[in-house]
Amino acid sequence: MTGEDFDIQVSFRHRIRFTRGAFSPGNKLLSDLLETRGHSKVLVFVETGLKEFFPELEAQIQDYFGEVAGIRLTGVEWLVGGEEAKRDDSVYQSAMAAIEKHHIDRHSYIMVIGGGAFLDVVGYAAATGHRGVRLVRFPTTTLSQDDSGVGVKNGINAFGKKNFIGAFAVPYAVVNDFQFLHTQPELTRRAGLIEAVKVSLVKDGEFFEWLEANAASLCALDEATLEEAVERSAIHHARHIALGGDPFELGSSRPLDYGHWAAHKLEQLTDFELSHGEAVSVGVALDTLYAAKVGLLSADDAERVLCVIEQLNLPLWHEALELLDSKGRRRVFNGLEEFREHLGGELTVLLLASLGKGIDVHEIEEKIWDDCAEELKSRVLAVSS
Ligand SMILES: NC(=O)c1ccc[n+]([C@@H]2O[C@H](COP(=O)([O-])OP(=O)(O)OC[C@H]3O[C@@H](n4cnc5c(N)ncnc54)[C@H](O)[C@@H]3O)[C@@H](O)[C@H]2O)c1
Ligand SMILES: [Zn+2]
Repeated sequence: MTGEDFDIQVSFRHRIRFTRGAFSPGNKLLSDLLETRGHSKVLVFVETGLKEFFPELEAQIQDYFGEVAGIRLTGVEWLVGGEEAKRDDSVYQSAMAAIEKHHIDRHSYIMVIGGGAFLDVVGYAAATGHRGVRLVRFPTTTLSQDDSGVGVKNGINAFGKKNFIGAFAVPYAVVNDFQFLHTQPELTRRAGLIEAVKVSLVKDGEFFEWLEANAASLCALDEATLEEAVERSAIHHARHIALGGDPFELGSSRPLDYGHWAAHKLEQLTDFELSHGEAVSVGVALDTLYAAKVGLLSADDAERVLCVIEQLNLPLWHEALELLDSKGRRRVFNGLEEFREHLGGELTVLLLASLGKGIDVHEIEEKIWDDCAEELKSRVLAVSS
């Protein structure tokens, strides 16, 4: 037998920027960010839901690029966004057809403006059209600005499974434009903050204390406080992806997925009626209480986390937790098996050792987790009655 191994190393630059009004005249962020030497083309995708809030956006984009030498805007395409856009490949196909129609090539840029779901679909088209076109993401929800938009994944759902088809692809840049944050529905605006809470719990206790101290302003959606939370969270997520040693998730330790095994299952069990942010809120509450029950985290610290979630007016519990399979076992526990499968064999779930520090465990005791669900149910029902 003969053969040889080769190491292929490719390095990526992950550019994360924060601004307000990226397409306003005089805002130099984009013209400085893009390479303009080769007379690149730019194709912009915007999700249709934004039209009513930003009726001038298309004209602004046209005016902006009219002034930037070395860049030619080929078009602005409006496509459907939201979770609906990921259900099948129709929006993906429309995006791909637009990439072909506008003669976008590997020296061009694709820009995508929308919520996390829209970024996922168009990002998948950008990653696969011509085997990869440079992508600039403009996330427009709290969740996509403080978490998913700065990530390196994209995809659509298939076979009833979330993100079954997709690719890892580092975007050319992510521009968090704060002008988009303040038109979201109130719940969407608030629910995305759970990812900031999550990343603080696994990475930065001081950030958690800041979120705790500012919970009332955040709940009231004070603009400056919301923007600071989003910026700090986005940088934590990007730092973990760039420096955490596993950007394409080959290992089994997933700190950024804290509270997510139950969350993903709850989203599915409610047919996505429960948004990602709300589901993560329930998942974080349960895994935090569980860590206290098994003696990893102090009861006082767990209580502080639950209080912050309550102050943000996000859920600690959801009735889908009560759904049972034919053997009388909570259906949410299937999420553990799916998580194990997803990791490729060994179950690894991150729990909290303290506020700001996670610890990997390889088993969840269902009886104790059950008790946590019951305790949170009683707590929620006591408040609402
Ligand atoms: N790729 C990843 O790493 C990753 C990570 C986490 C989540 N996600 C995905 O992100 C998606 C959830 O993203 P999301 O929470 O941003 O929700 P979303 O994209 O579904 O958007 C929520 C709703 O808000 C609307 N909207 C978006 N921006 C708006 C604005 N500025 N003003 C008014 N309305 C606006 C959308 O049209 C939609 O109806 C899920 O599909 C999830 O799987 C991806
Ligand atoms: Zn998440």
